[in-house]
Amino acid sequence: MTKTKIDVTLSKTKKEKPQSDQLEFGRVFTDHMFVMDYSPTKGWHDARIVPYEPISLSPASMVFHYGQTVFEGLKAYRTQDDKVLLFRPEKNMHRLNLSNERLCIPQIDGEFVIEALKQLVSIEKEWIPTAEGTSLYIRPFIIPTEYFLGVAPSNFYRFMIILSPVGSYYKEGIHPVKIFVENHYVRAVDGGTGKAKTGANYASSLKAQEEAAKKGYSQVLWLDGVEKKYIEEVGSMNIFFKISGEVVTPELNGSILEGVTRNSIIELLKSWDIPVSERKISMEEVYETYKKGKLEEVFGTGTAAVISPVGEFLYNEQKMVINDGLTGELSKKLYDTLSGIQRGTMQDPFNWVV
Ligand code: COI
Repeated sequence: MTKTKIDVTLSKTKKEKPQSDQLEFGRVFTDHMFVMDYSPTKGWHDARIVPYEPISLSPASMVFHYGQTVFEGLKAYRTQDDKVLLFRPEKNMHRLNLSNERLCIPQIDGEFVIEALKQLVSIEKEWIPTAEGTSLYIRPFIIPTEYFLGVAPSNFYRFMIILSPVGSYYKEGIHPVKIFVENHYVRAVDGGTGKAKTGANYASSLKAQEEAAKKGYSQVLWLDGVEKKYIEEVGSMNIFFKISGEVVTPELNGSILEGVTRNSIIELLKSWDIPVSERKISMEEVYETYKKGKLEEVFGTGTAAVISPVGEFLYNEQKMVINDGLTGELSKKLYDTLSGIQRGTMQDPFNWVV
């Protein structure tokens, strides 16, 4: 897109900010948002920061019908000396364009969007909570806006960024969650949209999540969509297993999301000389290692929760209690280090923080 300047219209009124210790995930939004539009003749254009407000669209707008949407999630933190930090935003822009490619949405200029993001976040700096475990969650997303009921890629799009001060994603925080191993529903299939961050993947996960909740489980463990044998993800996160000192995570196979936190955890483990491998891992293998007492820790990774330890699996009616249902040492160390780097309270030898 042409690097035009971003038009800024500031809100005349300011909303009341929530108390830092009462923040939920994604319920409160700041005073401004970033918007730009796409048309075949102008490309991405009219980049603007405007007051946060409802948008008006025709009921025939394609966004309401066939789910051609993509989104991202990243966080901003405010340091004690009042600097604002973003964590690896270029990775999110790269992934957004991979999702765009899969969903037939035009590519965005990642560098330009990061500049827009910086401008928006600095306008909303006062909204960034500073308490432990809180941050400003950033949600960029793209929707199709053409009015048309045919099944085809839209010709027109809107890109928006909204911001939400957040606390923990799971009410358990860094405490272990109970997971139901899902052997009926699947999240993604080979050749499908599993590696794209698109609404449909999350919509299709809801039924399993609802049924697991009725059984007293917080989330489900997703198995592959072909044999229902190999592990893919947990809830909306990537998953890691510590088995006899080695850390294993499912390899990226096209149906697993390429998590920014996943990648950062792998890099951190390598830098600590902890063996880590990305490979296929079946639930049967995990169960066997569990029976032999070799399954030491299990944890999910994602932007929203950072690290979420697994305390229990229900697998074919068998309860598997991991690490006595407690947060493992490695999970805790990874959480402390990664959130320390993100918040600017720990050294960032990787130059991840912007
Ligand atoms: C994340 O872990 O960041 C996610 O993908 C969850 C998000 C959809 C709220």
